[in-house]
Amino acid sequence: MSESIYPESQSGLSDSPNPEEILTNHSYDGIQEYDNPLPGWWKFLFWVAIIFAPIYYIYVHSEGRSIYDQYENHMASVFELRFQEIGELEADRETILEYMNKPEWLSVGKVVYKANCVSCHGADGGGLVGPNLTDDYWKNVTNVEGIASVIEKGAANGAMPAWKNRLSHQNQIVLTAAYIASLRANPVSGGKAPEGKAIGPWQ
Ligand code: HEC
Repeated sequence: MSESIYPESQSGLSDSPNPEEILTNHSYDGIQEYDNPLPGWWKFLFWVAIIFAPIYYIYVHSEGRSIYDQYENHMASVFELRFQEIGELEADRETILEYMNKPEWLSVGKVVYKANCVSCHGADGGGLVGPNLTDDYWKNVTNVEGIASVIEKGAANGAMPAWKNRLSHQNQIVLTAAYIASLRANPVSGGKAPEGKAIGPWQ
């Protein structure tokens, strides 16, 4: 170990009885280092943070506690409350056609559509990856109840996902089907080119 490179008068350590004692015992190209360990409280917090982080991460991201899960649960209970009024809807022709004429319930279908379907079918239903839902051409659907069935079971081996287990309530499928059926009244100009076969009006 070499001597301090600073004269004692400039080292700022003149109070210290022997500056050499607080130098670490290495020297790189004559550069020396004081031995200034981090304070105990700092190291303590460092370890506490390291131990705390994974516990907190696992806690917050486990089922039901993330802000997304909380949102989903709240939405599910909102739907549940609203659906008390109409009970469990059948996914049949009469029901879907009936709810096509109930704007206040169609809006529930619209909410489901906006939250889950826009990424593939476009905000207005004009089609993106998935087909245009506003024209007269349909690939998997020949009647209005067929819409509910495609939503429930999916199509093209999952290219169109099955929503049965993703939506919290059967009524969401029926009301979304009614909303989709209603889109044909306003075909999107410049939507995706027709796919499938032309079918007659819903009846
Ligand atoms: C990951 C992309 C994707 C999402 C998300 C998606 N779809 Fe689809 N959807 C598709 C594809 C692709 C098809 C066409 C399947 C085929 O080629 O037969 C399709 C087909 C359909 C059809 C039948 C159209 C026809 O011409 O036969 C309906 C109805 C439909 N989707 C409704 C919905 C609804 C409602 C939602 C939201 C709850 C939704 N889709 C979400 C990709 C998607």
